Amino acid sequence: MKRICARFAAGLLLGVLTACTSGQTPSTATVSAGGVEPEWWKEIIVYQIYPRSFQDTDGDGVGDLNGIIERLDYIESLGVSAVWLNPIYASPNDDNGYDVSDYRDIMADFGTMADFDRLLVGMHERDIKLIMDIVVNHSSDEHPWFQSARSSRDSPYRDYYHWWPAERGKPNHRYSLFDSEGDAWKYDSTTNSYYLHYFAEGQPDLNWENPELRREVYDILRFWAEKGVDGFRLDAFQFAAKDTTFPKFPDDLDENFMQYYAMQDGLHDYLREMNAEVLSRYEVMSVAEGAGRNFREAHELVDADRNELDMAYAFDGVDIPKYGGYALTTMKEVFSRWDAEFAEKGWLSIFLSNHDQARMVSRWGNDRPAYRAASAKLLNTFLLSMRGTPYAYYGDELGMTNIDFDAIEDYQDIAAINGYKRAQSQGRDMDQFLEELNFTSRDNGRTPMQWSDSTYAGFSSAAPWLPVNDNFESVNVRAEDADPESVLNHFRRMTALRNENKVLVYGDYELLLPDHEQVYAYTRTLGEEQMLVLLNFSSETVTIELPQLEQLTEVAINNYPAFTGELAPWQAVVLQ
Ligand code: GLC
Repeated sequence: MKRICARFAAGLLLGVLTACTSGQTPSTATVSAGGVEPEWWKEIIVYQIYPRSFQDTDGDGVGDLNGIIERLDYIESLGVSAVWLNPIYASPNDDNGYDVSDYRDIMADFGTMADFDRLLVGMHERDIKLIMDIVVNHSSDEHPWFQSARSSRDSPYRDYYHWWPAERGKPNHRYSLFDSEGDAWKYDSTTNSYYLHYFAEGQPDLNWENPELRREVYDILRFWAEKGVDGFRLDAFQFAAKDTTFPKFPDDLDENFMQYYAMQDGLHDYLREMNAEVLSRYEVMSVAEGAGRNFREAHELVDADRNELDMAYAFDGVDIPKYGGYALTTMKEVFSRWDAEFAEKGWLSIFLSNHDQARMVSRWGNDRPAYRAASAKLLNTFLLSMRGTPYAYYGDELGMTNIDFDAIEDYQDIAAINGYKRAQSQGRDMDQFLEELNFTSRDNGRTPMQWSDSTYAGFSSAAPWLPVNDNFESVNVRAEDADPESVLNHFRRMTALRNENKVLVYGDYELLLPDHEQVYAYTRTLGEEQMLVLLNFSSETVTIELPQLEQLTEVAINNYPAFTGELAPWQAVVLQ
């Protein structure tokens, strides 16, 4: 709970929301899973694509679906077995697609439904699964439902949203994550009422209490499931249920923030209904963004016998690195605690970055030229050797780094822009704010994919919507493809190792050296098989002593030419 609160606090204070080898679909029939129920979605490696930034083919500086189609062979070459696409639906893009105006249409910038159909066929031909982002805590204010709802109190769509008639006075305060004043109620003069938006004002919250609305959402899910997609990631779903009497909350919520906003009564009923109506009727997996406010709630979302969702996507891990650094012992403690909680039941996602975070190597590793490659390889070794389904974020397979923005005008993200306005109105030290934003901003993780050293890194023939990182001349697919020791080729070796060794998927995880401040060491064990993972999270050479080193002597993977018993800066070794 504390971490999720921290995510919100970061969102509120900084204006940033910090809040299925070579395409083979793994077969579950023959797999030994050490007591865990085997499932295809536990064995996949997910590659997350931010479509706006992946590959532009029509020369408008914005990525598109044809761009992803063009790069399918590359995606297959990574050894990943599923792709999660950030939202690709029609949207005015107040929040880059997380504000949907038509759930059954493709965003014009990204292409057409025919492009989508070809993309899905291309993925399935390569045995790559497709996971769609489902944004149904809120819609866009340009969705026809909202357009109708706001036009009259008698609209049949009025109750699809949350309204407060102004003749009752101002509604009790609710926080908005993306609003420049932090106020989630927006006055709308047409019907003399306020509407609720936990995110930006262009993202009105949907009213899940209304069975009509829920039926519409299930129809939308069926539409995509019928097309053949393989899974759904439920965006911000923890906020969907609300006490619609809108009682007063305590003034200073601080650490208790999530207690009042997330996982409110009714949410599990909605999820069970969604499962019965849609999820259980198709071969689809489901992943919950967020994982409740505590372990009990995390289990209530994903334990198989509860028939709600499949996989939790918890923020405790990804929230650890702060501006100013983090302690490795905290990382070990958090990842180990989550693993222990889910050892017998439920299933986790493992990730170190996504589209709401700055770049993995800049936050968790060392992005200075001397250590960038080694530390990026180390982080990918971690990601792909933990228990849980790994989610690799586009560009992290190259070791892409944060971009260096220093003026607020450089940023595109609504969370950054409105966060800046809010901080200004609070009289905060704006130099300090910008320095922190430079490190934490979501835009860091959204710069164009670096394909080559040609103009705009081969992403587009036109100036991209967000600038390309200056280091594209050396950090790019073409250069890394040609270098056997690159971050990219190490990533491929690591996915192959995981795909070939079920011990890395299902094996028990045991933390070694819990108090060591530089080395993260653990074993994975499945029956007779065991692997030892040694990760030096520091820029110094470190010597370690472990009894396991006597038996496990064969090097399965190493980001340095040799392993002599001591660990070089950011060295990552897997022994078997
Ligand atoms: C989720 C998304 C984030 C988006 C927000 C509102 O947290 O990951 O990108 O801004 O929901 O939809």
